[in-house]
Amino acid sequence: METPPVGPAVNAPGATCRLGPSPTALAIRLEGLQARDGAALDALLDQLSEPPWDVEIDGDDDALRQLLESRGFVEYARGSLFARSAEGLDAPRVSGIEVVPYENQWAPAFTAAEAEAMDGLAAFRELGSPSGYEWGAGQGSFRIARTTEGRVVGFAHANLPDGLIDWLGVVPGSRRAGIARQLVAHAARDVRAVRGTHLLAFGEDGTGAGTFLGRLGFRARGRRVLMIYRAAPAAAR
Ligand SMILES: CC(C)(COP(=O)(O)OP(=O)(O)OC[C@H]1O[C@@H](n2cnc3c(N)ncnc32)[C@H](O)[C@@H]1OP(=O)(O)O)[C@@H](O)C(=O)NCCC(=O)NCCS
Repeated sequence: METPPVGPAVNAPGATCRLGPSPTALAIRLEGLQARDGAALDALLDQLSEPPWDVEIDGDDDALRQLLESRGFVEYARGSLFARSAEGLDAPRVSGIEVVPYENQWAPAFTAAEAEAMDGLAAFRELGSPSGYEWGAGQGSFRIARTTEGRVVGFAHANLPDGLIDWLGVVPGSRRAGIARQLVAHAARDVRAVRGTHLLAFGEDGTGAGTFLGRLGFRARGRRVLMIYRAAPAAAR
């Protein structure tokens, strides 16, 4: 995840968004995008640097979805946004596993674990391998789970203080042992330490993420669709 240029709010008559690095695609994320109509969206997009651009929209906002599709955006993932309090989430230690802050020197081992754990996820297809998270030490809450022999078997990255868990995975051979629960409990502690109050996570449809999050006390807060614009502006507009 190379950090794209992060800008302030972008405004056009009838349209607005903020720019940031996308956590789920090699793209610039148009955060909080609002556009009154096609002309307003065009005026906003004209101000951006080169695509790809991606956007997470309310899954029930058919008008915005159609507007984006008319300008060449395509859906690449859908699911639900889940939330819970950062308080009261504890997890028993998992025997033979330690959870430690991530260090960039573990990039090769992390990338191998990531490729195994995230295989099949639409967000990982968009990001590609390596995802860029391997350079993320010290940014937000970023911890790995490793065996006593030093093998990386799980990881969790969350933004602070807002508590959005944007990258969480456990390798298939180590699942259902409580490792992800422990990683999320550590993230909750990091969030509380900076006076954050909630945890948020995106559960992609067709994966076990929603069930997992439900078991940890998260509640679905709404449908979300992730859309991306990959082509050069002149080609599609
Ligand atoms: C989702 C994921 C992180 C869970 O990791 P894990 O270490 O297996 O999770 P835990 O063992 O801590 O699970 C805690 C509880 O969640 C539930 N759960 C976990 N995975 C589940 C699944 N695939 N289907 C149904 N329930 C599941 C179980 O109730 C489990 O407790 P139990 O085993 O005692 O019944 C892992 O399956 C994964 O990496 N998936 C692919 C990446 C992904 O979807 N990431 C986004 C997560 S929001």
